[in-house]
Amino acid sequence: MNDILPLTEEQREIRRVAREFARAEIAPYAAQWDEEAHFEPSIVRKLGELGFLGMLIPEEYGGLGLDTTTYLLALEEIAAVDASTAVLMSVHNSLPTQMILDFGNEEQKERYLRPMARGELLGAFALSEPDAGSDAAALRTQAVKDGDCWVLNGTKAWVTSGTEAGVILAMARTDTPHERHGGRGISAFIVTPDMPGFHVGKKEDKLGLRSSPTVQLVFDNLRVPAANLLGTVNAGFTYAMRSLTGGRLGIAAQALGIARAALEHARRYANERQQFGKRIRSYQAIQFKLADMATRVTAARTLLYATAAAKDRGEHVTQYASMSKLLASETAMFVTDEAVQVFGGYGYVKDYPVERLLRDAKVTEIYEGTSEIQRVVIARELYT
Ligand code: CAA
Repeated sequence: MNDILPLTEEQREIRRVAREFARAEIAPYAAQWDEEAHFEPSIVRKLGELGFLGMLIPEEYGGLGLDTTTYLLALEEIAAVDASTAVLMSVHNSLPTQMILDFGNEEQKERYLRPMARGELLGAFALSEPDAGSDAAALRTQAVKDGDCWVLNGTKAWVTSGTEAGVILAMARTDTPHERHGGRGISAFIVTPDMPGFHVGKKEDKLGLRSSPTVQLVFDNLRVPAANLLGTVNAGFTYAMRSLTGGRLGIAAQALGIARAALEHARRYANERQQFGKRIRSYQAIQFKLADMATRVTAARTLLYATAAAKDRGEHVTQYASMSKLLASETAMFVTDEAVQVFGGYGYVKDYPVERLLRDAKVTEIYEGTSEIQRVVIARELYT
């Protein structure tokens, strides 16, 4: 298919670099890592060397200082080969690095952004808790000031890259249980695993994204230096929500990459597979599937990159980011499901990659806000 996006030479070049890297360094191993639920640490180093872990960080802090479109193009390429590597890249670039960049002080930026851009410190985001998922403002982890430290107690859930992270942006309550203020009583802290009281808890055994470690983090009298409070007290929920707008674009690019890969596998297979004496692409039943898949992929791509361009122009894109994620993740589920159908029995086994793509697609409808929460955000914005 022709590319209908108006891309610059630089954007095409970075997309090419990402595509070649993904095909050479990730594609040969992705199925095995998935099978073994193996996280491959060398991938973080290699992504760091390419600058892919500091794509949005300005050059003055050691990043590539690229625009959102270029970052998402690279992310889409990685996701088309391995969604587990893509989520690591998306969370790191969109959430912890962006939060420090947007809301951190100069000392925090100097200290953390350079090693994060190089991939020496991988970032994670800890908002959810076992009983606070969609209702993120109901989180219960408590932070209490004690001299020159904040002491945190609680359990964070569903933390992507949690076993590997060197920097975790963790949200905790700084109001007391007697004076709950919802989102207004929550602060953001820069946590590192060497802080006393930091523990990695349960590792999740997942349907998809199996080579991306997802864990609980347990804070047991975790002592966080006061200097690691991000921005101002009680503003952390707003910081998290604002960053999630960018995060949702990252997950949309991941979903788009998964969908695009499934379409491409199905397109090629339909061209080779013979039944009833003809290639199956000559049957209208298969043609209509491929046409619907390609149309939805193009619609998801068009909305995502239009939103990215609007974000880079400084426009308010909360609603469009939610629409992008909703459309791309539902497209990923539709397209991967149809791809398995095109493959028939071969789609249901591990000889071909489409069963992995179907398993990986599902979580894009769940994390960084479920499809239902995206609809809540979209509907709310219709009245603002
Ligand atoms: N930008 C800026 N501020 C925002 C905002 C946004 N997009 N969304 C909310 N806020 C602000 C509000 O203005 C409000 O501020 P005030 O109190 O000063 O008025 C405050 O945040 C609270 O907002 P709401 O009243 O809207 O909060 P709510 O409790 O009704 O919840 C919600 C809103 C949209 C449902 C929110 O809870 C939400 O997005 N839930 C989904 C959670 C989520 O996406 N979790 C992702 C987990 S992270 C993850 O998955 C990462 C990973 O590792 C893959």
